[in-house]
Amino acid sequence: MPEPVLELDGVEVRYGSVAAVRDVRLRVDEGEIVGLIGPNGAGKSTTLHAIMGVVPSSAGEIRLRGRSLRRKSSESIGESSPGSRSRRTSASGSRRGAGTAGEATRSTPPTTFSRS
Ligand SMILES: Nc1ncnc2c1ncn2[C@@H]1O[C@H](COP(=O)(O)OP(=O)(O)OP(=O)(O)O)[C@@H](O)[C@H]1O
Ligand SMILES: [Mg+2]
Repeated sequence: MPEPVLELDGVEVRYGSVAAVRDVRLRVDEGEIVGLIGPNGAGKSTTLHAIMGVVPSSAGEIRLRGRSLRRKSSESIGESSPGSRSRRTSASGSRRGAGTAGEATRSTPPTTFSRS
């Protein structure tokens, strides 16, 4: 099995005493496009913010190409992410971390991940 591009394993994010997301597991392989769906407040934005390093995770592990993102700044996460080279040379600025996955995989067929 190939190494996943992005892997979340048991990720938890807390806002104060409240766990906004708990035990998030997600694997994105090369060429996959993954959608994250759920009702309002389910934790979609929080999960993406944790991947981007905008909020810290309080448990679990997030790996980009096998390397832990723990203690990395959101800037360095963007630098090491798929598609970062083309993004740096684009005219639309450097703070577009959320677009990274789609940018890296947009020419491939969609695969959908969902949870209730
Ligand atoms: N800055 C914050 N401080 C405290 N609680 C927060 C904060 N941001 C989000 N939450 C809480 O964390 C939980 C997950 O919220 P989040 O915004 O990640 O959900 P979402 O799936 O993106 O929702 P929506 O579909 O409305 O965008 C919710 O209970 C929300 O109230
Ligand atoms: Mg949201």
